[in-house]
Amino acid sequence: VTHRRHRRPRAAPRAAAPGPRFELTIDALAAGGDAVGRDPDGRVTFVPRGAPGDRLLVEVVAEQRRLARAELLAVIAPSAERVEPPCPLFLGERCGGCQWQHVSAAGQAAAKQAIVAGALRAAVASGLRLEPLVSPAPPLGWRRRARLHWRRHESGGLAIGLFRQGSHELIDVDRCPQLEPALDAALTAVRRRLEPSMRGEGEVQMVAGHRGEVHVAISGRCDVGGCATLVGVAGIVGVAVRFGDSWGARAVELEPGLFARADTFAQPSRAGNAAIIAAVEGLTAPRVGARVLELHAGSGNLTRALRRGAAEVVAVERDAPPPDAAPGHANEAPVRWRSGDAATVVDELAAAGERFDLVVLDPPRTGAADAIAGIVRLAPAAIVYVSCDPATLARDAAALAAAGYRPDRAQPIDTMPQTAHVEVVMRLLR
Ligand SMILES: C[S@@+](CC[C@H](N)C(=O)[O-])C[C@H]1O[C@@H](n2cnc3c(N)ncnc32)[C@H](O)[C@@H]1O
Repeated sequence: VTHRRHRRPRAAPRAAAPGPRFELTIDALAAGGDAVGRDPDGRVTFVPRGAPGDRLLVEVVAEQRRLARAELLAVIAPSAERVEPPCPLFLGERCGGCQWQHVSAAGQAAAKQAIVAGALRAAVASGLRLEPLVSPAPPLGWRRRARLHWRRHESGGLAIGLFRQGSHELIDVDRCPQLEPALDAALTAVRRRLEPSMRGEGEVQMVAGHRGEVHVAISGRCDVGGCATLVGVAGIVGVAVRFGDSWGARAVELEPGLFARADTFAQPSRAGNAAIIAAVEGLTAPRVGARVLELHAGSGNLTRALRRGAAEVVAVERDAPPPDAAPGHANEAPVRWRSGDAATVVDELAAAGERFDLVVLDPPRTGAADAIAGIVRLAPAAIVYVSCDPATLARDAAALAAAGYRPDRAQPIDTMPQTAHVEVVMRLLR
């Protein structure tokens, strides 16, 4: 139950009649963050905010024949892994930004390792060496990129923050201990300048560069003139409005040689990203003289490492930003950028008879099922897969294994402490 992707029953709006109540012992933390145990009839029951070993009083809020979803009513006997959450919004407001603030760092690490091991058990059985999880990020203050929502209520009040866990109810987040201090300051400035003019619903995205400079992207109805006045305030160097104007810098230098805008992907933690790059470097070495195909290249984060020693790197990204917004996208030997859908570009390359020594892919959570057949046709000796979802990694690795690629080594990385997220870098060899 820690690794299988169950279709969990959705929590129905709370009915007048309460569901069954019972005591539940928590066995494990599941992918996605819920705790899981078995009800008195042996039925698998998911409950948010439980910790392995807890004895809880819970109430069922949604059920199917084999699965149930429950709410925590009371902790009867806490687990040794249960700790005081550092943020008051975690238990009080049930903020959905974090799932595991109530679990010790060791408990979180053990759960992430177990989730990865469970998802990859077929690969492990066929010889995959699964390394112990590394936890490079500090427990708090690691977030350099954030996406917050706003909603103007009918009462006239405004919430800027995150969704309550398991719902689309927005809770106001004044301070978030996950944010790097630069983002915290920028958020305060955004509130001060824009709050009175924010209408309907919208989004504030922010990214902090390595010197603390911040880029902000706003989408939704608010005072555009007010957006412009943010530049120069609280470390904000540039602001962009979706489908519209932009003022000041169009990107920040996220890390030396890597530029990012607030509205494009960036790994949220610096230390986590460094660990991903180190794992990719280790698992792709030696690249001397190699032809490398990099899929899902984003702003060129991994490209910086892959280009070292390689004869050529073809970097493919669907949402390639304009070069002036991301100097990393310049076509400088040995890197050649291609804008487009990964599966389509892979098929084109394969149809043209191209061959690569190494393919590196870093897809979104949904994985890269549609690109697998094309990658196999390119006949690389090695494939390195960076994944943020062990379940889709397992699915794609199984498809690659069926096509002759043996899962060789995998490194799990805890890039986002206090959350259920885990990254895995896996190498497969032909
Ligand atoms: C997890 S991010 C990785 C980005 C980059 N490798 C990094 O380390 O920052 C996934 C990237 O894949 C891109 N992407 C998503 N679907 C894609 C597709 N079908 N074809 C090409 N790129 C895609 C996204 O725009 C995003 O930049």
